[in-house]
Amino acid sequence: MTQMPINMDHHWMPFTNNRLFHQEPQMFERAEGVRYWTPEGREVLDGSSGLFTCAAGHGRKEIAEAVYKQLQKLDYTPHFQRAAPISFKLAEALSDILPEGLDRVFFGSSGSEAVDSAIKICLAYHKAMGEPQRTRFVSRSWAYHGVNLGGTSLAGMVGNRRDFAGVTCDVVHMRHTWNEEQRFTTGQPEEGAHLAEDLEEICMTYGGETIAAVFVEPIAGSIGTIVPPLGYLQRLREIADKYGILLVFDEVITGFGRTGSAFAAQEFGVTPDVMTLAKALTNGAIPMSAVAVKTEIQQTVIGSISADRPELMHGYTYSAHPVACAAALATLGIYESEGLFDRAASLSPIFLDAVFSLRNLPHVTDLRGYGMMAGIQLTPGEAPGAKGSIVQRRLFDEGLHVKATGDALIFAPALTTSEEDLSMMVDILQTVLGRAEL
Ligand SMILES: Cc1ncc(COP(=O)(O)O)c(C=O)c1O
Repeated sequence: MTQMPINMDHHWMPFTNNRLFHQEPQMFERAEGVRYWTPEGREVLDGSSGLFTCAAGHGRKEIAEAVYKQLQKLDYTPHFQRAAPISFKLAEALSDILPEGLDRVFFGSSGSEAVDSAIKICLAYHKAMGEPQRTRFVSRSWAYHGVNLGGTSLAGMVGNRRDFAGVTCDVVHMRHTWNEEQRFTTGQPEEGAHLAEDLEEICMTYGGETIAAVFVEPIAGSIGTIVPPLGYLQRLREIADKYGILLVFDEVITGFGRTGSAFAAQEFGVTPDVMTLAKALTNGAIPMSAVAVKTEIQQTVIGSISADRPELMHGYTYSAHPVACAAALATLGIYESEGLFDRAASLSPIFLDAVFSLRNLPHVTDLRGYGMMAGIQLTPGEAPGAKGSIVQRRLFDEGLHVKATGDALIFAPALTTSEEDLSMMVDILQTVLGRAEL
């Protein structure tokens, strides 16, 4: 049967060269396990777990059934002065796996919402502590914290903030942690902890007492997997404590087993005050995000407001959506019953070996990796990002989906990936990156 042509005029696609896409559409129609299928029926291996969302692989029946059941039982409830029991159940289940002390959870629908909610929670906390002058934030160059206005302000990637000046808030950036000596380092680089001193420097320049929070991705994900140098996150924690600044880990990518522990905070042994989560929280099946905070942060905010009004004037129509809660609970069930965080830890050395086998290919200028995420940096093309875009398209033609940011590929397959599928993915990378012409 011939397929009807699709009218693509009306959907304005996000983060996409829409004109190029219309010339050469690359679509998925079906997915299962670590495989997508195009509308023409061609198989494409998923080398980025969707967008780091589908950690347990695609098409999980347990999630589909939980969602279907929940839709029939209670499709929606507002969460302003109302609730459904399932959101409390999910918050409790999360608090069981979160780092010790972070056990109060605020829900949203996207990583960007989680970041903006975290910004407001930090401001509310300092106000409650009698320090309303702490309105400035610290982030890092090359950072990605979503695209809402708070996240755009925190952004350290020029393309994501350049066009939106005027709506951004007061953010000072530390340097990123990558340097030339780190090329082709597996795991955490040994040098670079001193870069955390940028926070101290910023405190000296701006006044530590004006800073509300420092936001970092424990492993900078979207830019292409920049792994924190040994001791770097520990040092950030110390400096933040010294100046009364909240430490926020944006674990939207690193959360839920990607590093081999439940969260990067546990993997690297540094407990932040606030954590943002999304993506693999529901295995990508239903949009959902969360902000986890230390008990005393929530208690301080609640205790500072008179008992006749809401304590945090913030929330979304879809905060704690019951169907998303059902998807998240089913997802957490899969992570536990299949031991997927441990599986990520045991698969990681095999995964990293496979990634580092790409080392001598002509278009590869750096490789980085930790747990089940890796960055493949390509030699620059005609313009920044041009090579990344071409390679991403050629990989798709050869049967592999991988996320590209600029000239970096971010390879992060599902934690369920078999060794056989992993080597098929790496073979495709070898083939495409081994071509002289690109
Ligand atoms: C670290 C980090 N924070 C926030 C976000 C934004 O999440 P979303 O696209 O769901 O808004 C992302 C998305 O990739 C991310 O990687």
